[in-house]
Amino acid sequence: MGIVLGIESSCDETAAALVTTDRRIIAQRIASQDAEHAPYGGVVPEIAARAHAEKLAPMIAGVMADAGLELADLDAIAATAGPGLIGGVMVGLVSAKALAMASDVPLIAINHLEGHALSPRLADPELQFPYMLLLVSGGHCQILLVEGVGRYRRLATTIDDALGEAFDKTAKILGLGYPGGPAVERLAKEGDARAVPLPRPLVGSGEPHFSFAGLKSAVLRAKESGKYGDADIAASFQQAAVDCLVDRLRIALDVSDSVPALVLAGGVAANQAVRTVLEGLAAERGMRFVAPPLALCTDNAAMIAWAGVERLDSGQSDPLDIAARPRWPL
Ligand code: KG4
Ligand code: ZN
Repeated sequence: MGIVLGIESSCDETAAALVTTDRRIIAQRIASQDAEHAPYGGVVPEIAARAHAEKLAPMIAGVMADAGLELADLDAIAATAGPGLIGGVMVGLVSAKALAMASDVPLIAINHLEGHALSPRLADPELQFPYMLLLVSGGHCQILLVEGVGRYRRLATTIDDALGEAFDKTAKILGLGYPGGPAVERLAKEGDARAVPLPRPLVGSGEPHFSFAGLKSAVLRAKESGKYGDADIAASFQQAAVDCLVDRLRIALDVSDSVPALVLAGGVAANQAVRTVLEGLAAERGMRFVAPPLALCTDNAAMIAWAGVERLDSGQSDPLDIAARPRWPL
């Protein structure tokens, strides 16, 4: 059994976790910066980087103390090296390099998207490769065929906004505050999903890509028209978004060889409407539906540590001069 320290700092969560090669999360801490960014209605990169720099070192010391471990007990140190806000990524990656150097433990630079893509296997030992993954968060909206460690085929991505971003912008338009996804979902429960006619961008097109900018603009026009209640707008927006997901996923499934499992990850996986339609789609296609527990869906360090475990298992590590990458497609 081995132990990997994972570090995540690519957006607005500072997180550290210790995960064993046999899938136990033995310690984890996470600090959200929601309060710091809320006045601006979104993440401010400079504020994020400074907050990571303040919080990360004591947090790593904290998880090591929680587990009663010394650096010498670690088998690897894994940190997000991109994609993300570069200031924050550098705080995490440089911290990992310093610890790796001081303790002579291998460094593993993790693509944040790979962390999301492999996290379902941390929660579910039964989940084998390959699987179809819908990754929907504030920064990403992708359909990936996950064939193995380091083997990801991107079948779809967004040509403008990510879905979580569309939820956050809808929340802003409706005056619901940040982060907006959970607030939009709560309000949608009180509304009529058919009340507001909204577009389903790209639905019906042959390529399985996503687009949410037009939907967001339509939400703004609906609000400004004064003709609709906020709950009806929220419900109609959520329904349009869910319709886009299902349509695009059907195309991705149609153009791929059959895979046994449909997996949902990323912060928007917290949304019950999204979960329900994907579960239905999986049942219709005779696939297993897997969605990790919410704490593993939103940004966290256990998924980074786990991706480190999977990479270590396949004999990989990285040199100390590896660079942080703000853009890094899987
Ligand atoms: O994965 P995550 O924590 O961070 C990124 O990598 O972006 O995802 C955060 C995103 C935010 O846009 C947030 O509004 C959205 O996930 N989100 C939700 C819900 N909970 C979080 N969107 C819709 N419904 C929710 N219940
Ligand atoms: Zn993420």
